[in-house]
Order: sequence, then structure tokens, then C-alpha cells
Amino acid sequence: MKIFLDTANREYIKKLIPTGVIDGVTTNPSLLSKEGSDVKSVLRDICAMVSGPVSVEVVEKHPDAVLKQAREIAAFAKNVVVKIPFALEYMPAIKTLADDGIALNITLVFTPLQALMVAKLGVAYISPFLGRWDDIGVDSIDLLEQTMSIQETYDFDSEILAASVRTIIQWQEVAQTGVDIATVPPALFEQVFKHPLTERGIALFDADWQKLGKTSLFE
Ligand code: G3P
Repeated sequence: MKIFLDTANREYIKKLIPTGVIDGVTTNPSLLSKEGSDVKSVLRDICAMVSGPVSVEVVEKHPDAVLKQAREIAAFAKNVVVKIPFALEYMPAIKTLADDGIALNITLVFTPLQALMVAKLGVAYISPFLGRWDDIGVDSIDLLEQTMSIQETYDFDSEILAASVRTIIQWQEVAQTGVDIATVPPALFEQVFKHPLTERGIALFDADWQKLGKTSLFE
């Protein structure tokens, strides 16, 4: 499973990329709005810090403006992926961009058939929003599995990117589905590394080692 960090926060990215297990970053307008008004610098820094794909979402509304902005975003950095919300009126732009070989991430996908529509256009990534399914009382893992099953049946090339993952249990269940990618907020990523038994075990090993009174392992 590839792991993307769902954030536009440079401090978190700088801190967590060296773990070696983060394969990319996803941003959206809500995440960017938390990082101040110099969006260009924020995105330039993120694209330079991350070697994998960095999703940047269009903020224009009219389909022609979306198409134009998508091309600007695509030209911004080599590793940038253009994020476009799923919508009927954006389908022609999505098709044009996908045909031109621009890497797209279709976001706000909430049904397996929505995923099917954009998979047919050959987009690089499709992002179902799991947490928001759960918010409305729908079993997100069920819907993710249905989405993946349709994709596999027709052998589409798009990668499924599980988004809006909010808890460790949900992330584990997502991993069990075999989905291509999960994007997770930094705080959730860090939770994996905080476990009371791991921490207690480290403290116990250290206490026992100190009893020997040695200054190095091989002295
Ligand atoms: O990747 C999508 C994510 O940023 C949305 O998460 O928790 O606002 O549904 P959430």
C-alpha cells in the first residue's frame, strides 16, 4: 500500500518524509487555506520536499477555467497531480487532460459508478472519501470494496486512493482491502508510532541495560 500524507503543512511534511514510508502528498483548498495566503510558496516548497506525486486541486468553477487552471497546475512542478472534483460539467475537461497525458486525481468520489465514469477516461487516481461516507451512516469499507471490484473487473489502470481516512481502525480496514493508496492526516500517521506497549518496552529494555553500567555495547 502506498501512503500519502493529507496535508499542506510544510513542518509536518519536513518531519515525516524522512520516515521513508510516505509516497506522496495530497492537498485540497481546505488544507491550503490553513497555511496562509502565499499559496504559491507553500506549493513550491511541498513539491520540492516530496519526490512522489503532490495533488493540487483546481479552485476555478467554470469548466473552461478549470481546464485552463488544470494546465497551469500541471506545469507548476514535475511531480504535481491535478485534482479535479467529480462533476458532470467537468467530464469534457477531464477527458481532454487525461488524453493529453496529464496526471489527474478525481476527488469527492462517493459512489462506485462515479469511479467507473472517470476510470473510463483513464485518470491516474480516483479518490473516494471514506470518512464522509461514514458521516452519513454508509459503510465506507463496503463501498470501497465495491469500487475496487468494478475497477478490477474491467482492468482499469486508475489507482484508487482512499481519502478522508480518520481513524487507525479505519486505516487498518482500508489496508486489508488491498487498495492502492491511502492518504492520511499527519496526526493519524504519527499515531501508528505511539503505542503504550512499545513505549513501555523501550523503557524496560533501557532500564535493564542501564543496570550493567556499560557505556557502549561492544566496549
Ligand atoms: O483527502 C481528503 C480529506 O482531506 C478530507 O478529509 O476528514 O475532511 O473528510 P475529511
